[in-house]
Amino acid sequence: MNFKKNLLLIISVLLVVLSANVVMAKTYIVGTSADFPPFEYVEEGEYVGFDIELIKEIGKLKGFEVEVKDLSFDSLIPALKTGNIDIIIAAMTITEERQQVVDLSIPYYSANQSVIVREDSDKNMTVLFGNHNIGVQTGTTGDLWVTENLKDTGILKGQVKRYDTFVYVINDLINGNIDAVVLDTPVAKRYSQLRPVTIVAEIFTGEEYGIAVDKGNTELLKLINEGIEELIENGTMDKLIDKYF
Ligand code: ARG
Repeated sequence: MNFKKNLLLIISVLLVVLSANVVMAKTYIVGTSADFPPFEYVEEGEYVGFDIELIKEIGKLKGFEVEVKDLSFDSLIPALKTGNIDIIIAAMTITEERQQVVDLSIPYYSANQSVIVREDSDKNMTVLFGNHNIGVQTGTTGDLWVTENLKDTGILKGQVKRYDTFVYVINDLINGNIDAVVLDTPVAKRYSQLRPVTIVAEIFTGEEYGIAVDKGNTELLKLINEGIEELIENGTMDKLIDKYF
C-alpha cells in the first residue's frame, strides 16, 4: 500500500515536471524583412527561406520555438531595442555601428554588393556615375555604400532613392523609375532569375551576416552561436546552402 502510494506520488511529481517543461519551451519573436530571397521571402502566405529555416533549426537544437515578424529592415534594430522582437535574422551584415547597439552572432554567410539594371537596358557599371537614380533599401549596407562612396563624393549627381522593402525597389527598377539598384550579391542573383533584371557589376565589400540579439542578452547569444556551430558540424548548414543557393 505504502509502496503504491509512493509510486503514485512519484508519478504525479514526474508528470508535473514534464508538463512544466513542455509549457516552458520558449517562443522567441524573430524579426526579419521578408523581401530578400533566398534568405527570407513570402511563399503561399508563409515566411520561408534560408534564414527562416536556419533559426528554426537552431531552435530545434537549443529548445526554443520561433514566431516570425515581418518588419521593414531599418526598424528591426529599434524593434529589438524596445523588446518587440527577441532576435533579428535578416541577412544582416555584421558592422561596427550595429555592434555598438546590438550583439551579433558569429558569421553564418558571406556576401558582396552587386549592381542590377533592367534586363533590356544598355546600362553598365557607369550607371553609378553622373545623372542616374539609384535605388536602395533604407539602412542597408548597400544604402551606406552608395551614400558614402557615390552621393557624398559627388560622383553620383542623381538621387539615392530609399525604400522600405526590396519588393518596391525591384518594381521601380522594372518600371523605369530608377536606373539601378545596389544590393547583396546572392539576392541580386536570385532576383535576376525571378525578374527581368541583370547584374552589371559587383562591389567587393566582403560582408558577413550575423544573427542579432539585444545588447547584453548573452544567454540567447550563446545558444545561437552554439546552434550555428553545431549546424556546421552536423552538416545541416551545408544542406541548407544546397537547398537555397
Ligand atoms: N546585408 C545588408 C545589410 O545588412 C542587407 C540586408 C537586407 N536584409 C533584408 N532582409 N532585406 O544591410
